[in-house]
Amino acid sequence: MKRVLVTGGAGYIGGTVSILLRDAGYSVTVLDNLTHARREAVPAGVNFIEADIADRPMVEAALRELRPDGVLHFAALIEAGESMVKPEIYFRNNTASTLSLLEAMLAADVKNLVFSSTAAVYGEPDVTPIPETAKLQPTNAYGESKLLVEQMLAWFQRVHGFKTATLRYFNVAGALDGRGEQHEPETHLIPIILDTALGKRKSIAIYGDDYDTPDGTCIRDYIHVADLANAHIRALERLHEHGRILVNLGNGKGFSVKAVIEAARRVTGAVIPAEVKPRRPGDPARLVASSEQARELLGWEPEHADLDEIVASAWKWHQQRFGA
Ligand code: UFG
Repeated sequence: MKRVLVTGGAGYIGGTVSILLRDAGYSVTVLDNLTHARREAVPAGVNFIEADIADRPMVEAALRELRPDGVLHFAALIEAGESMVKPEIYFRNNTASTLSLLEAMLAADVKNLVFSSTAAVYGEPDVTPIPETAKLQPTNAYGESKLLVEQMLAWFQRVHGFKTATLRYFNVAGALDGRGEQHEPETHLIPIILDTALGKRKSIAIYGDDYDTPDGTCIRDYIHVADLANAHIRALERLHEHGRILVNLGNGKGFSVKAVIEAARRVTGAVIPAEVKPRRPGDPARLVASSEQARELLGWEPEHADLDEIVASAWKWHQQRFGA
């Protein structure tokens, strides 16, 4: 049986991918420090190690014992807004801790890695939809902290023969197998809109309506977590063949903040009051993926690209989780 180590596997995306891997017959071990998730969030039927990825001795010992065929690395801080207030914690948790993980992998001779990167590495892109070859110029410290990891991976590949799949996520949403988007504290657009639909918040703040976009609000490319998770399995399984994979994961269609609110009004039937507030520092106006490379290298095709379907999936889960 193939074995994998999943860092951050108690989280929204890492947990979803762990479930898919488990169901595909992998022996999955989740390693998570539980700072942003609870023990109950670790999927059933997987092994669990409570540890921080920066705990070199613990991670190295786990790798030596498990001898995994690959590591899928999700553990990270993920809030662009927060990274503009406390950049240091992003460089510590996302960059320095990943270096520690890479050193442990090197010491244990485990050299296959699937890495969660982000559209935030592009910053304010020159071209839309964004190809992987676009200029990398992050506008927030979160994107920079992930870009630095990408650069380290290139050297571990070149010097130490690592095989790496770098997946640049656009905006992940929706739910799969009773697992949906939830962060503590919540800062992401769709869960906050759905909280408002449930009456748990009075209104949704639109961060800026003076961007250079048709309705003035920021445009993002929303991808269903099921499609995103599926791409991870494909990347892991094609790592041997390709050696290096670097792909965007998005649908290639952009929706403004106002369009997402409209979709949620259609899906939920709720009024969802919205108020325009100042821009959030570090937010690029428009992030839309070209997903050609993922289609070509991974044979990947998103199956849930419709925005209303994505929001409906999130809504079903959100009601179960947070409804009265
Ligand atoms: N937004 C609001 N009001 C809110 C929350 C968000 O207007 O209450 C806006 C943001 O300003 C942004 C858009 O909605 O324009 C999406 O914001 P999110 O916080 O949901 O997501 P981000 O685009 O900032 O970042 C997300 C993930 C990152 C990932 C990135 C890739 O958090 O991890 O998408 O595009 F890298």
